[in-house]
Amino acid sequence: MTDNRLHYPATARNRDAIVAVLRDVLPASGVVLEVASGSGEHVVHFAQAFPVLAFQPSDPEEAARQSIAAWARQAGLANVRLPLALDAAADKWPLSSAAAILCINMIHIAPWRATQGLLRGAARLLPAGAPLYLYGPFRRAGVVTAPSNEAFDASLKARHPEWGLRDLEVVAALARDHGFSAPAVTEMPANNLSVVFWRT
Ligand SMILES: C[S@@+](CC[C@H](N)C(=O)[O-])C[C@H]1O[C@@H](n2cnc3c(N)ncnc32)[C@H](O)[C@@H]1O
Repeated sequence: MTDNRLHYPATARNRDAIVAVLRDVLPASGVVLEVASGSGEHVVHFAQAFPVLAFQPSDPEEAARQSIAAWARQAGLANVRLPLALDAAADKWPLSSAAAILCINMIHIAPWRATQGLLRGAARLLPAGAPLYLYGPFRRAGVVTAPSNEAFDASLKARHPEWGLRDLEVVAALARDHGFSAPAVTEMPANNLSVVFWRT
């Protein structure tokens, strides 16, 4: 049998710190949509940490969806759904509601229109009071960007001119325009941030 599981080493390093933040963010019940699930290692870990919630992974890449399905199958979890083909930038998403949305390490590794689509889609799907959780490196006004993040930004831009670290203030303004609260920010290991916007 072919093993389709991808392995992203960073997920093992950041997943418990993310779960610690999610404990104060996720609702008591409902479906949690993950946008850009990648390998699927995060969603399997989250589903184990929050067994009462149902997790809906997604990714536009077929190889990622195969990996997500393989990790979920191997874990034997009843609360991870089959992955959806979801491009955050698209006007239509393949589901119409969610109790929370997670998007980890995507907005800097995709063109800006993916972030715009993410906010548009999250505004459509989430009810008032529901969270949109983002994780990754950001630039912040008045805060010197860590040298490791500057180097990462340069390497992202070398790979694709439309990629790169986003300004937290610009993302927050976009979120506000789509009916979200000001961000609740938690500093995370390795100069990353957890950023939570609440649907108003
Ligand atoms: C660096 S990986 C992060 C994966 C995973 N969230 C993690 O932290 O390990 C970036 C992911 O974003 C996905 N992605 C890129 N553009 C996207 C878009 N427009 N909509 C949704 N996902 C996208 C890629 O397919 C990839 O799986």
